[in-house]
Parts: sequence; structure tokens; C-alpha cells
Amino acid sequence: MKDSLAAQWHPNLWPPFTQLTSSKPTGRVLKGDGAVLIKEDGTSLIDAISSWWVTLHGHGNSYIAEAIYHQAQELEQVIFADFTHPQAENLANRLSKITGLERLFFSDNGSTAVEVAIKLAIQWWHNQGEERQHIIAFEGAYHGDTFGAMSVGERNLFNEPFEKLLFPVSRAPWPSTWWNDPEIDKREEKAIRILESLLEVPTAAVILEPLVQGAGGMEMVRPSFLEKIQKIINQSNTLLIADEVMVGFGRTGSLFASQRAKLSPDLMCLSKGLTGGFLPMGITMASQRIFNAFLDSNPKKTFWHGHSFTANPLGCAAANASLDLLEKDPRSYLNFEARHLTHLKSLSVHPKVKKVRLAGTIAAFELNTNERNGYLNIAGKSIKTYALEHNVFIRPLGNVIYLLPPLCITDEQLKHCYNILQKSLDLIK
Ligand SMILES: Cc1ncc(COP(=O)(O)O)c(C=O)c1O
Repeated sequence: MKDSLAAQWHPNLWPPFTQLTSSKPTGRVLKGDGAVLIKEDGTSLIDAISSWWVTLHGHGNSYIAEAIYHQAQELEQVIFADFTHPQAENLANRLSKITGLERLFFSDNGSTAVEVAIKLAIQWWHNQGEERQHIIAFEGAYHGDTFGAMSVGERNLFNEPFEKLLFPVSRAPWPSTWWNDPEIDKREEKAIRILESLLEVPTAAVILEPLVQGAGGMEMVRPSFLEKIQKIINQSNTLLIADEVMVGFGRTGSLFASQRAKLSPDLMCLSKGLTGGFLPMGITMASQRIFNAFLDSNPKKTFWHGHSFTANPLGCAAANASLDLLEKDPRSYLNFEARHLTHLKSLSVHPKVKKVRLAGTIAAFELNTNERNGYLNIAGKSIKTYALEHNVFIRPLGNVIYLLPPLCITDEQLKHCYNILQKSLDLIK
């Protein structure tokens, strides 16, 4: 059985986050169209998780595709240490204006955007003659799979073999909440108290995923909690890193989750929806105050970090096109929460459903089962299998079931996703 499952996969490919002996390949996808993926056998699947949270406007969006095509005919790549180009400048102007963070440092993905933010924070203190290595992160966090990003993430099954190589990080509780949660005030107060005591040690930076911890299980906090965090940070002489890799670009109902939570980060990490999900790209946004500490005739103060594909013109063209679409139709993300709401309300009364939560385009709940919670929970797997058989692709995080669809999903497609979830719940013991 073990070997027969592994043998169903391509003999030369190594898929991410997947144990080949216990998972079946879902098939070959030949085309994407809006919210739908079309497999080789002609089956259509609603991509209800935006292909790992990247596909923002839908698959095959012709406006973004054309922007990439035109850019490819002009300039596909140029070394960014010496040159600049119009697409990067345009993107920098726009993102600086929207976020209030003046400087953009490009990299390749979410993990590298986080690595850059951590390194910038540490070197910012160093350049000013102060050695600060203390970083505070939150319990349950996920910031990526490179070493720095793993270090600030929760220690778990994923990074266990590397544990001794990860740098130490202090951790505050993440008081996630859900509908009808009577204990939330108490949990928030406790989290604040712990954060305040951790901040008594001089701290280089606090890093968090604004509003929603994604891979940690779509764990949502109240915006008012983050407002309190911002106040404490203001009084504490430290930096705030907002990892908006998942929540950026409308995902939580405002263009950036930091805006909804009234956070003013010093550094912000972007990726995933940045290019509308068309091309891999990461950006670390930094305030002018951060940037200024690196401007010096002393070469030691330079940020000696870079990636071959920095500010790739095709990625920048896709990102500019994606921003055009968001600017043209802000209701696509502003009103998304209301689209989930009625469906989620009917689902929430099912006896197998608990801890229902919603933020913008992200709707999540937990399965009420006797099984152990966590990433390896089996019940989530059977929901995934049932959904696949009914043309919906989801990828539960253990016993956490969530929908995070592209903005273009139609009302009918969304309704179908919820109908299938509703039916699948009856399978759970
Ligand atoms: C909040 C957050 N930060 C960082 C990352 C890492 O991004 P990537 O997978 O592009 O390296 C992720 C990926 O899911 C994420 O959700």
C-alpha cells in the first residue's frame, strides 16, 4: 500500500509538504480559468484555496497575462544592483504610497521577504552601534521555510530536524478567537501581559502575521488586540515586522491587514498575491527611518544581501497589473466578507463544526471530532477527498477547514463549495 501510493507520483518530481507514501496525486492540471482548474481528464475543480493563497484575481487572468507578455517583449530581466527599470519604479511608487513605507527591497518569495526583514531589523540596530538579537514572535506563527523564517516560526514537526540550528526567539501567546468566544478578553489580557514582560529585554523586533496566522491554522485575532500591540510597541523602542505574505492585497477585507488592524509596521513582508499569483516575487517594505541607517560612506553599513532575480521585470509587470485590478474594483475584496457570511452562518450550526471565524476572503472552522487536533488529523483528509470527488479543491490544515478563494469566484461557485462542505460533514465520526 505504502509503495503503491508513492509509485503513483512522477518518478522524478519531489512535491512540497507531501508524504508520497500516504497521499495520492490529485492529477495533472492543464488549464486554469477564473476560479477553476481543469485537469487532463477534463474534470473541473474549484480552486477554493487560491493555489496556496496566491491566485488573487483568478487563473489565466487575461489582463495580467497580457501585461507579462508585453513586458517579456521589452525586457525580461536586468541586474538590479546597477540598473533600474520602469516597472520596478512604478511598483515602488505605488506600494510606497499605499503602505506609507518608503523603500522596497525585492526578493523571490515569502520566506526570503521574511529573511530580509529579520536581517534588516538586526542590522538596523547594529549600524547604530547597538547589538540586539532578541526577537519576539507569536505562538503558532509560520513565516516560511528558510532558516531565519523557520526560527521565528512555531517549533513543530516541520522544523524538528533543524531545531538545534534555529536561533532562539521569545514567544508571546496568540489569542485567536472565533464566533461566540466568551473567554477572549481574558486570553488577550494574558497575551498582552506576557508581551510586555518579554519586551523588558531590549528587543530588535516583534514579528507577527496581522489578523490571521495562516499555516498555523487560520487563527484570527481581533483588530483591537493588534491596536493594543501597536501601542505597546510604540512605548518599547523596538521594531515591528508585519508579515503580510498571506494577508496582503485584500485578503482580510482591506488592502493590507495592517490597515484594518491600525498597525504601523517598520517593515512589511509581501509575496503570494503580490503578482496576482502569476509569478514568484517577494518584497520587504521598509520605512525611511530604517533605510537611513544604511546610508553611509562606511561600507560596513551597507545591506549586503541580494538575489539574482531581484525586481524581475516580468514579476513587476504582473504586480502592477494586479494592483490596477484591485484599484479598479476595490469592492471585489471590500465586500467579500459579506459573500461568505450567510453560507458560514448556516454551516456554523452543524454539530461537527466549532470555532467558526471569518476575515475578509478567509473563512475557517474546526471539525468537532474525537481525534487529536493538528496537521496530521485524519478527518480533514476525508473532507478533502469528498470535496475533490465533488469538484472542489481544498487543503485542510489538520482539523481546520477553510476557504480562501480567488476574488473572481462566482456566487454559484462559492455556494457549491459550501454545499459540498456541508454534505462532507455528515461523513465525520
Ligand atoms: C505568513 C507567511 N509568511 C511567509 C510564508 C512563506 O512564503 P513562501 O512559501 O512564498 O516562501 C508564508 C507561506 O505560506 C506565509 O503564509
